[in-house]
Amino acid sequence: MKWYIKSQKYDKNFIRENMMGPNSMWLLEDVCENLDLKPGMRVLDLGCGKGLTSIFLAKEFGVTVYATDLWISATENYERFKALGLEYQIIPIHAEAHNLPYADEYFDAAISIDSYHYFGANDTYLPEYFARLVKRGGQFGIAAPGLTKELNGKIPDSMKSVWKEEQMDDLLTFRSVGWWKSTWEKSGLVDITSCGEIEDARTIWYDWAKIARERLGFNDDELLDADKDNYLTLVYFTAVKND
Ligand SMILES: C[S@@+](CC[C@H](N)C(=O)[O-])C[C@H]1O[C@@H](n2cnc3c(N)ncnc32)[C@H](O)[C@@H]1O
Repeated sequence: MKWYIKSQKYDKNFIRENMMGPNSMWLLEDVCENLDLKPGMRVLDLGCGKGLTSIFLAKEFGVTVYATDLWISATENYERFKALGLEYQIIPIHAEAHNLPYADEYFDAAISIDSYHYFGANDTYLPEYFARLVKRGGQFGIAAPGLTKELNGKIPDSMKSVWKEEQMDDLLTFRSVGWWKSTWEKSGLVDITSCGEIEDARTIWYDWAKIARERLGFNDDELLDADKDNYLTLVYFTAVKND
């Protein structure tokens, strides 16, 4: 199992309590290995949940983070950031991904961990929303649950006990690295700078599944158990906006 040097410093209970998807801090650490973040940069953290990734970005890179989320209120996140003395470096914003209160080209970088698939797994979100917010030459970093290979409209036999046909739209938010790369490249707006599957993705996802089962009653463990053909994985990619 990879040793995540930067993430290891953070309190494990704090991470467990505030994590909302497969280890967002580790995924972000992987993504950041392929980004060049500098102190003072303005970074959008879209779908930040309870702000673990925003805290990591502020502390590790000295950037100013706009911690933006739909399900978690700005006040709840503000309290958390304030308790850590980060309230001047992380700005909590409650907003929906298609209605963000930011100027075009406002950010030096935009990241989204364990969240982008909810709104961005289509041809339109990048050109119409996400890319507009980032400066020319600015950076993007995404990590999310995904697939080792595309489903091509069919639920694999091994998954039929846990995935129903009527859930197909939800399932199509899980995509392969190749799908993300070609969807972003065909926009003509960005160059992909790195992409791949997260090392030990299933172990990381199983760890989250245990927490999610205890805390939220989620059935990710059943999904992973059923997936005998190893479709499920965690994917990441980074990109730079064209000049
Ligand atoms: C699985 S949680 C992950 C949160 C956090 N990044 C983490 O890993 O702990 C997904 C997050 O995406 C956010 N999200 C989903 N759909 C959204 C939308 N349409 N606009 C803004 N945020 C959205 C939710 O509010 C939620 O906090």
